[in-house]
Amino acid sequence: MVNNGSALGFTTLGQELTEVELHQRGQVPEWLEGDLLRTGPAQFEVGKASYQHWFDGLAMLYRFHFQQGRVVYSNRYLQSDAYLKAKAAGAPSSPEFATNPLPTLLQRLRLVARAGSGNNANVNTSRIGTHTVALTETPQPVAFDPASLATLDSRTLLPSLPGQVTTAHPHFDARRQCQYNYLLEFGRVSKYRLYRIDAGTTQAQLVATLDTQRPAYMHSFGMSERYLVLTEFPLVTNPLRFLLGNRPFIQNYRWEPERGTLFHVIDKDTGQIMKTARAEPFFAFHHVNAFERDGKLCVDIIAFPDPSVIDELYLEHLRSEAPTKAAGKLTRFTVDLDGDDAVVSQTLADAALELPRFDYRRRAGQPYRYVYAAGTSPKAAFMDTLIRIDLETGKETAWHEASCYPGEPVFVPRPEAQGEDDGVILSVVLDAKVGRSFLIVLDAANWSEQARLEVPHPVPFGFHGNFFKG
Ligand code: CO
Repeated sequence: MVNNGSALGFTTLGQELTEVELHQRGQVPEWLEGDLLRTGPAQFEVGKASYQHWFDGLAMLYRFHFQQGRVVYSNRYLQSDAYLKAKAAGAPSSPEFATNPLPTLLQRLRLVARAGSGNNANVNTSRIGTHTVALTETPQPVAFDPASLATLDSRTLLPSLPGQVTTAHPHFDARRQCQYNYLLEFGRVSKYRLYRIDAGTTQAQLVATLDTQRPAYMHSFGMSERYLVLTEFPLVTNPLRFLLGNRPFIQNYRWEPERGTLFHVIDKDTGQIMKTARAEPFFAFHHVNAFERDGKLCVDIIAFPDPSVIDELYLEHLRSEAPTKAAGKLTRFTVDLDGDDAVVSQTLADAALELPRFDYRRRAGQPYRYVYAAGTSPKAAFMDTLIRIDLETGKETAWHEASCYPGEPVFVPRPEAQGEDDGVILSVVLDAKVGRSFLIVLDAANWSEQARLEVPHPVPFGFHGNFFKG
């Protein structure tokens, strides 16, 4: 039951560093050239006031620049509207996931009308056209310079479609050369709009619209070769709550398990809704992968029995010594595209997992073999292992070190890679023993440590990032 220091990962980081060469143990592969660009919450108080939830903290950008076996590190706060307003006011000034400093009805109305809530883009990094962007769940990507991490003017990147909520997990379709995402527009009848942005452009094109009376909170969605999969968990809201109450964003959603979970399967090319199938009630943040096989659609998701995991991620809980009770399980949901509407589910691994990755570049939308994730050991207060799952054999391989807390394992394939585990895993690990973080480089095939790069400070726990080739 001892926290062992993971609370340090929820502590404000005041230090910003520019191009510090990291001390290296082991050997970084020479072929690894480019930038690991990550974002995450790193400031949890402004003035005397605090944010409430891990998802609320002000976004910091991180760059690990790999060149000829050397690694140079920079970190810099994203100068978003949310950040600048909070600094100017000396208090949190924009509504976040679970913190809402806006008191008046007028401000709430304005908030809904202007489609956004402060673009504190602390969830993921991506590319739109030629722009490198930080993303959150409001549709206001924030562009930044991938070398200097300076925040850039992002006004041209606002989507041309209406909506207040989106995901920070766009999908990339290598064959169609486009990315997909959805926007949710609140209304008397709310609308999910799936859209695509073709490579090299920034313009959103509508793919399909789905109406809903009670929109669900969906942090990600699925994609197979032919289909997009919108998984409507029964964590739903009546949009009127956003106008009539003064609750933070997520507290407007209610768990209504009797609805079950609906899988909407949408044809990427025609926009046609091919099927809506129903599964037991569950909640998830992350889809892993989805693929078609023998007339069936397999959708792999890190599933939780209910949304109580959201409550476990309030900072007060995370900074306590309470163990994490919520366990996400890698689960395969199978939709029979030609058969009945019942979804069959099967747990694929024993470990409690989150932040799943795989060889996305080559296996997205296709059958695949390996999943990489961060795991939580029984009684651990936070994610304390890195796990590789072989879906073919069921074998789970773990990396663990006492008092170490790893984040998302990002897979980088070797150039000319043969198998889908031919490459390395990069993960930022908080070492609570010494009060600093390091970047670990694991061999994705045998899960052995190849190198660790010592960061001069503790990096607060973040969510996502991507490797951008040099
Ligand atoms: Co996520």
